[in-house]
Amino acid sequence: MKQIAIFSSGTGSNAKKIIDHLLSLKKKNNAAPVVSLIVCNKPEAGVLKIAAENNIPSLLIEKEKFFRGNAYIEELKAADIDFIILAGFLWKVPVALIKAFHRKMINIHPALLPKYGGKGMYGNFVHEAVITNKEKESGITIHYVDEVYDHGQIILQATCLVSDDDTPETLAKKVQVLEHRHFPAAVSLLATL
Ligand code: GAR
Repeated sequence: MKQIAIFSSGTGSNAKKIIDHLLSLKKKNNAAPVVSLIVCNKPEAGVLKIAAENNIPSLLIEKEKFFRGNAYIEELKAADIDFIILAGFLWKVPVALIKAFHRKMINIHPALLPKYGGKGMYGNFVHEAVITNKEKESGITIHYVDEVYDHGQIILQATCLVSDDDTPETLAKKVQVLEHRHFPAAVSLLATL
């Protein structure tokens, strides 16, 4: 049984969808992967409440140790983590951690990479840029994590239309529908490879 750590700094809506999806799979197949750790860098993040409600341990990480210490590799290995999901985690992942989980770490990005990625491109900043550039479509990208921000091999993309009257908020909703529809199934498949 593969054990997953979800890294998230936000509300954790994707984490919740993934947890629920894997729990329902587990009822049919005991070998289905499980979310066994939530990793977070913000004490006030909603995802920590989700972890507590689901009896999943959480690890609150510190900047100094993440970037200049061991990047929590020992803690993740000690917890028998096989696979890492970045779901709204905004710190750049240190190279040592990426190497320790080579092709065992994926990220979801709320746009169609390679456009609208990179430092500072998250949440509504992404949707604002898409609307300002009058793009006709946007969507989601699920990709392996490598040493460059929002750059690793693309695994899956799904698209939605951008209307003339879309605001960053309405576009965010459309993109979130895609995330919740596709991310949990992708995770369950990729974590077992
Ligand atoms: C998601 O929309 C995800 O794509 C985005 O953060 C949100 C987290 O939402 N990630 C990025 O922007 C990464 N650059 P959630 O906390 O509700 O799952």
